[in-house]
Amino acid sequence: MKHNSIIESIIAILIATLPLAAAGPQMTVYKTRTCGCCAKWVEHLRANGFEVTVEDVTSTAEYRQKYGVPEKLASCHTAVVKGYAIEGHVPASDITRLLKTAPKAKGLAAPGMPAGSPGMEGPRSDAYSVLLFDAKGDSTVFKTHSGN
Ligand code: CU
Ligand code: CU
Repeated sequence: MKHNSIIESIIAILIATLPLAAAGPQMTVYKTRTCGCCAKWVEHLRANGFEVTVEDVTSTAEYRQKYGVPEKLASCHTAVVKGYAIEGHVPASDITRLLKTAPKAKGLAAPGMPAGSPGMEGPRSDAYSVLLFDAKGDSTVFKTHSGN
């Protein structure tokens, strides 16, 4: 009887965990309350299956510092997913590849606010590079996105 109830509890836990296992990667985004392009980037992530928690903060600079994003790669928002920092309008496809390949790095950045990047859609679309950066602040090109 006791043994059975333990098994029942285990089954209950497994069932309770299933939807989480099926859900996309959990991500926390730090942005300022009034940032419109940040909100659009969050929509882009959710549309691509990410489970996003949004934290409105006074300044994202302290989160860049906390998560090791070099100030020279700064953009409008800082996010954390599975221990990686994501700075700026990085496309969901790049984040998915980062999580799949799991390189030894701090994270990805799309410095500045590239026109045409996810959340920055408009009439113009510029070419931009998503950079993979390490703890020392060195970076390499992770993916180049062409403009129009
Ligand atoms: Cu932005
Ligand atoms: Cu932003």
